[in-house]
Amino acid sequence: MLVYFMAMVLMGVSVFGAPKERTTFSFQFLMPDVQPKKPDTYLCHGIDAGEEDVFITAFSPRANKDVAHHILLYGCEEPGSTSSVWNCGEMAKSDSKYDSANVCARGSQILYAWAMDAPNLHLPKDVAFKVGGNTGVKTLVLQVHYKNVSSFVEPENATDASGLILTTTEQPQKRRAGVYLMVTGGEIPGKSIEYLEAACAFPDAELEIHPFAYRTHAHKLGRVISGYRVRDQHWEEIGRQDPRKPQMFYNVTSPNLTVRQGDILASRCTMENNYDHNVRIGPTQNDEMCNLYIMYYVDGDRLLEPNTCYTQGAPRWYWEDFPDQQAINLAGVPATVSVVPGDKMVMEKTISEKSDDGFPGLGSHDLGQNDKTGYDAAVDDLLDEAVSNMEPDEVEQLVAEALSPQRGHPGTTGGRQTRLGWLTSHMYGHNRY
Ligand SMILES: *[C@@H]1O[C@H](CO)[C@@H](O)[C@H](O)[C@H]1NC(C)=O
Ligand SMILES: *[C@@H]1O[C@H](CO)[C@@H](O)[C@H](O)[C@H]1NC(C)=O
Ligand SMILES: *[C@@H]1O[C@H](CO)[C@@H](O)[C@H](O)[C@H]1NC(C)=O
Ligand SMILES: *[C@@H]1O[C@H](CO)[C@@H](O)[C@H](O)[C@H]1NC(C)=O
Repeated sequence: MLVYFMAMVLMGVSVFGAPKERTTFSFQFLMPDVQPKKPDTYLCHGIDAGEEDVFITAFSPRANKDVAHHILLYGCEEPGSTSSVWNCGEMAKSDSKYDSANVCARGSQILYAWAMDAPNLHLPKDVAFKVGGNTGVKTLVLQVHYKNVSSFVEPENATDASGLILTTTEQPQKRRAGVYLMVTGGEIPGKSIEYLEAACAFPDAELEIHPFAYRTHAHKLGRVISGYRVRDQHWEEIGRQDPRKPQMFYNVTSPNLTVRQGDILASRCTMENNYDHNVRIGPTQNDEMCNLYIMYYVDGDRLLEPNTCYTQGAPRWYWEDFPDQQAINLAGVPATVSVVPGDKMVMEKTISEKSDDGFPGLGSHDLGQNDKTGYDAAVDDLLDEAVSNMEPDEVEQLVAEALSPQRGHPGTTGGRQTRLGWLTSHMYGHNRY
């Protein structure tokens, strides 16, 4: 990290540090004149967040719409690469002049997303993301998806400096922003509509969170992703979006809704698989993802922990597997949960119950060690990649967390609440659309 830090200084990249006489300043976080040569290149650019706490109060895109398809800002505990610029797409091109690596090597969170033709995200008054110092965000990483690279090759040979202007201050803000992630594993059988569901009891006795924006993420099969707060058996929509729309942060459905102890957070991804083959959750574009990011603020400095609600997803876990069925009150699920916004049709799931059909290892007989479902296989694949960077005890703990049976696990009610662990950080690392 030190080497990286020094490298940044030597390269003349500015490091955060406000002039003392000013309380806010603008920081231009732009690609350093990059030259992607292949269509659909994802480039990452990292910068050290510094030793002091820094508060980001606004984001403003500076993008060339003709070339930048989307821009994501990540906070990493450790960046995927120590280079200034690296290739962070899953189809990393071997002939690229940039190294290939994940967005973050460790501890990843998404702070901002921009896509052309999508509304810009505004943080509410007095709300800021806190980065740098001891926050766990040691590096900020800008990811730009270059879809059309025709201007970067001959004869133009142009370069690009798309990025973000961050409004920052060293002055602590009254409200801190965080992101809660709802995510599932699972598998979508061929020629079917399937629901991937997660639900978690609100994990903190003292906090109250104010969700203000949300982002959905799926690959090709996602049709609608919906999120809810269940309070006193009543379901209230937090957000519902078609993941084929720009995968941005959108305003929540009800701006004044809060979530606190006793509430349940629930999400569903309605997936349509028109292929003949099953598609499972995994990191590549040929796999699927079911992610709902809920951006919230708290009054004060303490964020929600754990910050992830994870379930195994279909066909192993559905809302009907949430332990407190009275509290979750499935009779109260809104009729629009599987309706694409702007549409009227309910996308009914085509497999109505857990069955043996198409799912080796599931059904009436017990799950044994050798019965690998798609989920297990996907986990294995991810683990293989992820463990190479970890300490042995870290691996042991995370494997236990990821593979332990859903039900009856101490400390959870229904969906697993994990820290932003290997699974999600690994997924974030590949997170793109
Ligand atoms: C890429 O952009 C150029 C202009 O910069 C345009 O002429 C070309 O048609 C675009 N290609 C695609 C595939 O959109
Ligand atoms: C563009 O780059 C190529 C290869 O690096 C080089 O041969 C060519 O002269 C460059 N063209 C211009 C206009 O700079
Ligand atoms: C989102 O909400 C904010 C604050 O309530 C508002 O100013 C903004 O216009 C909204 N954006 C969209 C796209 O509705
Ligand atoms: C939300 O709360 C604010 C401030 O209390 C109030 O002005 C506004 O009307 C409320 N909005 C809704 C939709 O209830």
